[in-house]
Amino acid sequence: MPNKPPLTGKFPLTRMRRNRGDDWGRRLVGETRISVDDLVWPLFVTEGNDVGEPVKSMPGVERLSVDRIVKAAGQAVELGIPAIAIFPNTDPKLKTSDALEAFNPDNLVCRAVKAIKEAHSDLGVICDVALDPYNADGHDGIVRDGKILNDETVAALCRQAVVQAKAGCDIVAPSDMMDGRIKAIREALDKEGFQDVRILSYAAKYASAFYGPFRDAVGSGGALKGDKKTYQMDPANSDEALREVAMDIAEGADMIMVKPGMPYLDIIGRIKTTFAMPTFAYQVSGEYAMIHSAAANGWLDLDGAMMESIIAFKRAGADAVFTYFAPVIAKKIKQ
Ligand code: PBG
Repeated sequence: MPNKPPLTGKFPLTRMRRNRGDDWGRRLVGETRISVDDLVWPLFVTEGNDVGEPVKSMPGVERLSVDRIVKAAGQAVELGIPAIAIFPNTDPKLKTSDALEAFNPDNLVCRAVKAIKEAHSDLGVICDVALDPYNADGHDGIVRDGKILNDETVAALCRQAVVQAKAGCDIVAPSDMMDGRIKAIREALDKEGFQDVRILSYAAKYASAFYGPFRDAVGSGGALKGDKKTYQMDPANSDEALREVAMDIAEGADMIMVKPGMPYLDIIGRIKTTFAMPTFAYQVSGEYAMIHSAAANGWLDLDGAMMESIIAFKRAGADAVFTYFAPVIAKKIKQ
């Protein structure tokens, strides 16, 4: 992105509206396009058989049992969506202060990954690395005396990532914001022979109010004690995001995530231009809920707002977007 505006003509010799005068002309000069290849579909998995529980705050989104998530994965393949991301709604009885269920090779996520990869080996499967689905207090890290412990958590995340890799996951995505976890996870994966498992680092993840509906979907919201401000970033900061990304690249990250999405387009733009890394954006649950609820009230056009939000990510510099709209957008593009 150039800092100065490019040299351009003067009115009336130049009329900017000329290029906007018709549909074919607008298509011809369009700078950004959305392709199905740019989409990642986040999915919620829950216990049971043939279960699809609607998430109230996320219209059109359901928590799916393993058999149903395999079907959703099949739909992703059919639509040409390259990858899905899986988040578990863990039985509250399995949540402990040491988050032991995270290391269970037979936990919900691992069972889902195995079943999905068995049915659809060519679909990319992404797993979140963080302890919040398994932690009794809803935090991404291990808590002692009210403090989120960094190094103890990193050791736990390494175990969790290896368990997910063993289940067949292609990309591990640490979303926990502990310091030093990318290098530690890279080394733990390599030691177990998983050199080819990629790391998507949630390098710039902000302590955001926009995660509310997600915490409802995975059932961690009610459990959460306090907030995540001692590890997730302050929404006021931008230079700090560059330092986070620089460190994670040095530690071996293959891809970088910015999260949330739309309120942080400036961060996506800076990161993409500074590092030229594969840079992803997460259109989080709250962004999805906002668009849906406004549309449900007749206050904005759902399709229009949905497509505009995704093109904005691409324009800002995102290579791919995690979005709950993924299958709907993919169908729209296919038409
Ligand atoms: C937690 C995690 C969160 C999301 C993805 N992984 C929530 C949080 O940090 O509390 C949010 C996704 C969304 O809101 O759609 N590791």
